[in-house]
Amino acid sequence: MGFKITLNFIVIYFWSLTPTIILAQNSNQFIYQNFQGAKLHIDGAATLHSNGLLQLTNYTKQLTAHVFHPTPLNFSSSSSYSFSTTFVFAMYPEIQTISGHGIVFILSPSMEFPSGVPGKFFGIFNSAADFKPSDNIFAVELDTIQDFEFNDIDSNHVGINVNSLISNVSASASYYSDVDKQNKSLNLTSAKPMQIWIDYNDKTMVFNVTLAPLGILKPSRPLLSHHVNLSGIVRKTMYVGFTSSTGSVASSHYLLGWSFAHGGNVMPTLDLSNLPKLPRYGNGRKLSVGSMILLIVISVIVVTIGLVYYMIRRKKFEEVVEDWEQEYLLQRFSYKDLYNATKGFKDKELLGVGGFGKVYRGVLKSPKLEVAVKKVSHGSGQGMKEFVAEVACMGRLRHRNLVQLLGYCRRKCELLLVYDYMPNGSLDKYLYEEDKPNLSWNARFKVIRGVASALVYLHEEWEQVVVHRDVKASNVMLDADMNARLGDFGLARLYDHGTNPQTTHVVGTVGYLAPELTRKGKATISTDVFSFGVFILEVACGKSPITALQGSSREMYLIDWVYECWKKGMILEACDPKLGGAYVVEEIELVLKLGMLCCNPKPEGRPNMRQVMQFLNGDNPLPEMTPFDAKAAQANLGSFPISSAGNSACASYSNDSILQVGR
Ligand SMILES: *[C@@H]1O[C@H](CO)[C@@H](O)[C@H](O)[C@H]1NC(C)=O
Ligand SMILES: *[C@@H]1O[C@H](CO)[C@@H](O)[C@H](O)[C@H]1NC(C)=O
Repeated sequence: MGFKITLNFIVIYFWSLTPTIILAQNSNQFIYQNFQGAKLHIDGAATLHSNGLLQLTNYTKQLTAHVFHPTPLNFSSSSSYSFSTTFVFAMYPEIQTISGHGIVFILSPSMEFPSGVPGKFFGIFNSAADFKPSDNIFAVELDTIQDFEFNDIDSNHVGINVNSLISNVSASASYYSDVDKQNKSLNLTSAKPMQIWIDYNDKTMVFNVTLAPLGILKPSRPLLSHHVNLSGIVRKTMYVGFTSSTGSVASSHYLLGWSFAHGGNVMPTLDLSNLPKLPRYGNGRKLSVGSMILLIVISVIVVTIGLVYYMIRRKKFEEVVEDWEQEYLLQRFSYKDLYNATKGFKDKELLGVGGFGKVYRGVLKSPKLEVAVKKVSHGSGQGMKEFVAEVACMGRLRHRNLVQLLGYCRRKCELLLVYDYMPNGSLDKYLYEEDKPNLSWNARFKVIRGVASALVYLHEEWEQVVVHRDVKASNVMLDADMNARLGDFGLARLYDHGTNPQTTHVVGTVGYLAPELTRKGKATISTDVFSFGVFILEVACGKSPITALQGSSREMYLIDWVYECWKKGMILEACDPKLGGAYVVEEIELVLKLGMLCCNPKPEGRPNMRQVMQFLNGDNPLPEMTPFDAKAAQANLGSFPISSAGNSACASYSNDSILQVGR
């Protein structure tokens, strides 16, 4: 079975090769699909490339090339003079606009032209006078030089010549397009392959020469049609082939394939898809000085533009990385990634503008992750090392009620902090904005306990004491499950490392600042407790720490207002009316009183966060308290800036956890 298949294969193989071999040996019918291994009569400059491409001339001046099918045509034994031939050629001019001299298809009694000179004589003879009828030459010329001596019509023509270099008939290279129904001109020296058909019918004695770009079916109308009595020109044996030459200008001429049939034989079909490949045009071509200068100018412009673009891009994505940063474990993001993640810090991606800079939403590519990118502007200089050290510390803080810092990026005057993205935004929006759904008491109580838990962690549970410095509703984020996540922790502290260590910045938000903080400018965990107190009053009352009174330039302080209600014995009146009375009385009362307790003007009178947590969890009962007049406290404390509008909060609390009610 296997043997049979092999045999079949061999038979098919030989069968498919056979026509080429036999035809190539027959002078009446042959085909050179390419010229690989062809036994042609070749002389002069003609060279055979290994891929089967036949090169007639190259860019060297004054070359001649002759190529003939080795066996002659026999015109005596044949009753017919008819023949058909087609070949594919290409001409590569050395200089695009001029090229010389061309390719000639020739029927000749001899393959030798001992006196042939190159150039306009095509290597056949050496003077116009030499041509005589006894030479028995028939030729079709593809002429790319206009020679007035030979009445050439132009430098791009096809002509039929009988014993002369003066064409009997000629026409500018063109073809009839059967698709567009019109003549289209062709440039013989375009370096593009073209196909030509030459057909002689001895009944009509008409020569038809048809030209077309390679790949176009033979046009229905020939380029040239000429009546010639071939029997009066040719001898009994004639060789068929090509001659080609270069003169004072040179071009490379190529033949790709050739098919021929004589005496009524059918012309074998050239398979255009299997022709040898032409070299790339332009190889080794010398450039004129003009085009060289142009090329240099263009290159300089391109390089300059590239360089400028590169520099702008470099500047755009420039970062500052220093050795000491390696020691921090916090992930460093590339500015380019953050830039792309936030679509170039587009305003559309802006989530909010905080005290420390703008926050943008971003989507990182890998890992695909939604993040919030905070751009913190910062004077460069001294503080940067501490600044980054702080940030690195913050990256190590992990608590379910903290917004997780994922990493950072540093530029010259800018620090970019990358956080977990909080899909539900900040708490203040839910308290004050009309379009947000109202938060139920349960949700609010959960938020309060979450923030307290985060502060316990920052103040007591982590390896270092971290003072938040800016506890407020707009710094409390809500995650997808509406859990509170305290953000911006530790950031306020970073500002202390700013440009001028001499000035003490009071950082925080008006309305949340403990009195001793505005006096001494020193933030402590106790000032955080004060802010937390204001914050929980805010959540329970749905009011800002400071509200402008209607119809007056005066402001009302939330602490004062809760105190007033409490003093009247109606503390629940302070509750957010939006709750509609839907709350647990014990819980809301606890929150209001705890808020007041935390807002004690004297720091030693405030509980610490662990105690706050115990009160909130009901582990310890809130001590009995009665409202107390802040005026007295003010007298003791001196100025009390946040409470200039009136009375202030009022309960005292001692460090030994024994609450003293009143004073
Ligand atoms: C061109 O052909 C001639 C004749 O074969 C040869 O001497 C010359 O080196 C060739 N020139 C190039 C540039 O190939
Ligand atoms: C063609 O030329 C041959 C040889 O010169 C001559 O015998 C023949 O009569 C010519 N044919 C015509 C139709 O003129």
